[in-house]
Amino acid sequence: MTEQTPQHEDNVYDSNPSGNPEFRSLFDQKISRRNLITKSAGGAVALTLATTLVGCGSDDNDNVTGTLPPEVDKQPLPKALTFKPVEKNTLNAFTVPEGYEARVLFALGDPINTAYAEWDDQNIASGPSFAMRSGDNHDGMSFFGLDQAKGRYDAQVSDQGLLVLNHEYINQKHLHPIPNTTRDLIRSEDEVIREVNCHGVSVIHVIKDPKTQEVKINKSSPFSRRITAASRIEFSGPVKGHALVKTKTSPDGSFTLGTHNNCGNGYTPWGTYLTTEENFDGYLARNADDNRQDLVENALTRYKIDKGQSAQYKWNTPKASFLNQDMYDRWNTSITADKAEKDYRNSANCFGWIVEIDPFDGRQDPVKRTALGRFAHEDCRSSRAIQGQQLAFYMGDDSTGEYIYKFVSDAKWDAKDVNGGYRAGDKYMNAGKLYVAKFNFDEATQKAHGEWVELTINNSRISAYDKYKFADQADVLIHTRLAADAVGATKMDRPEWCAVNPTNGEVYITLTNNSNRGKSYATDAANPRNYFDQDSGKTDLKGNINGHIIRLRESENQTTATKFEWDIFLFGAEQDSLPNVNLSGLTDANDFSSPDGMWFDPRGVLWIQTDDGAYTDETNCMMLAALPGQVGDGSVAKAKSGDQSQVTVQGATLNDSKLRRFLTGPSGCEITGVTMTPDYKAIFVNVQHPGGEWPSNHPKALNASLGKGTRPRSATVVITRKDGKIIVGEDLEQVKKA
Ligand code: FEO
Ligand code: CA
Ligand code: CA
Repeated sequence: MTEQTPQHEDNVYDSNPSGNPEFRSLFDQKISRRNLITKSAGGAVALTLATTLVGCGSDDNDNVTGTLPPEVDKQPLPKALTFKPVEKNTLNAFTVPEGYEARVLFALGDPINTAYAEWDDQNIASGPSFAMRSGDNHDGMSFFGLDQAKGRYDAQVSDQGLLVLNHEYINQKHLHPIPNTTRDLIRSEDEVIREVNCHGVSVIHVIKDPKTQEVKINKSSPFSRRITAASRIEFSGPVKGHALVKTKTSPDGSFTLGTHNNCGNGYTPWGTYLTTEENFDGYLARNADDNRQDLVENALTRYKIDKGQSAQYKWNTPKASFLNQDMYDRWNTSITADKAEKDYRNSANCFGWIVEIDPFDGRQDPVKRTALGRFAHEDCRSSRAIQGQQLAFYMGDDSTGEYIYKFVSDAKWDAKDVNGGYRAGDKYMNAGKLYVAKFNFDEATQKAHGEWVELTINNSRISAYDKYKFADQADVLIHTRLAADAVGATKMDRPEWCAVNPTNGEVYITLTNNSNRGKSYATDAANPRNYFDQDSGKTDLKGNINGHIIRLRESENQTTATKFEWDIFLFGAEQDSLPNVNLSGLTDANDFSSPDGMWFDPRGVLWIQTDDGAYTDETNCMMLAALPGQVGDGSVAKAKSGDQSQVTVQGATLNDSKLRRFLTGPSGCEITGVTMTPDYKAIFVNVQHPGGEWPSNHPKALNASLGKGTRPRSATVVITRKDGKIIVGEDLEQVKKA
């Protein structure tokens, strides 16, 4: 792939006064990539890490058969959770249950290659060097087993794998040598390059000792690489080449530069990673005199690209002497020339997509899969892969009052496509139908049901919509939110992650919270709560403060269904809140607030993570384990909706043997991103934006990381059992003993 952010020998902007040897030593070191200086498509001189490798990469893609993931995992599902639940706390530490241990694996700034020095926060490395270091704000993450002989995916391998993770955004004040320069009206190139490189995705090669279960990073691996907010990404699917994605960088609209604000994630049945572009709007400036037609202005406003807005990190401001000026100009999405091919008026349309990355193929650029629509993508989860059936991908748009979507492939799943890389992506993700969800409740029958409405230009509600004139189906995909508005989709309490239950195919979606529910959005059966916090002392905590998790079962369990049944699996709440708020009967062992990250492991344990600001006076963010039942196993309930009640349908109450707190993060953090090795002996989670000084950099300290210094750093943590056994497998061990 082509890195547009340079690794340049004449790094005049290297602000590391130590004379950091990183660039020179990279060239000197014998690593198995070909390192080339090339003139990039953007005109910038760049070090291209041509990732064609001996024995790996996509050269052998013609033979795509690999080890197939089993349709039903052989590892039995525990009947109960028997680890001792972690207590709520506000410690500046990462806490796991007794018998487990946690280690920091990969923190902000850690090098992915031995040619680069370890982190030292008294000597922050140059901006360009962060193209070979961990980015910031670790988020969604997936593990892919590595068949070392073939250099390809093997869903059964645990001891060698590629861990792929998102870097959502940055904490500017901890990132630079001199923090207050971020306030400058014209940003320095070095800082902007560091920030651009701290976004995107890391691919790191991890090795797990089969005896001790200890996990380490292989920093000599040719697979380790970064994709950043400057990497070249291809467009694919219906929007490729469309007039609305033509830019000065790519006048034919075939590609764009960068992926950023990568939040939740997903993975495909053929062994590739899906990253998401969430709050891309905040990165773009727009001139105050950027006048557009009224309906175009409507569309820009709907995507929060307002006239006169400045970009939060001001990446559009540097005066280039090191890079090409276009690398900065592209962050201003205004009309500045006589046609789109000469300016960046369409920059905003180049973001907000699902991006497919083949971790095993560094030769081909990642791909924006435009058939899946454009919005603040939070997560993208595949349905179960069943031979001969079409695949569905479930997605949330994380903003207040936004929608839940699914994409259904035209192609039917064929397990021979495992290891098919981007070619399989073309087959399953370029042609299909995009739907948006409507949630209904039938008062007469007291049943909760819903429908998927296809977003197609052939629907007259879309083609004749009065707030935006869609040119064609590609325009429907570029302006997905407006098409969903046109068909009257249900406004949800911030749809975040989606998870698919491997045992029955049901789909779970976290709705993290909505302070406006009951104010600008009336409660409804699917978003039923509006209340205030009784003990925080804060008067602004109202609406759906603690969030909930909704789930649905497709009609006749078909991915292609246009009807579904639903219920609310869990309501977040403080354990001592009113019964019509704490509807799920949460206790001290499992109460939580603001569910966000969520994933079913392949045996069927559901992992729930929180990104909370409401319960943090009493506890840090956390991850819980759950053993869910199924849609319809509960009853009709009445939720607190201001002074009234709102009828809804909730799932069966889980006692604390089916829902338990597994870990808590250090103070100030969000817990996000979760994946495991296929043998269930190591689980990875991310600590995003920790407060205090976590992780300690003293080698003997709890949760120590490599490097020196005291700046807090986002990090990937790996958790294993001290006895090396299966994570939350204790119940089954007891059964065996009995
Ligand atoms: Fe990036 Fe919606 O959290
Ligand atoms: Ca409270
Ligand atoms: Ca999130």
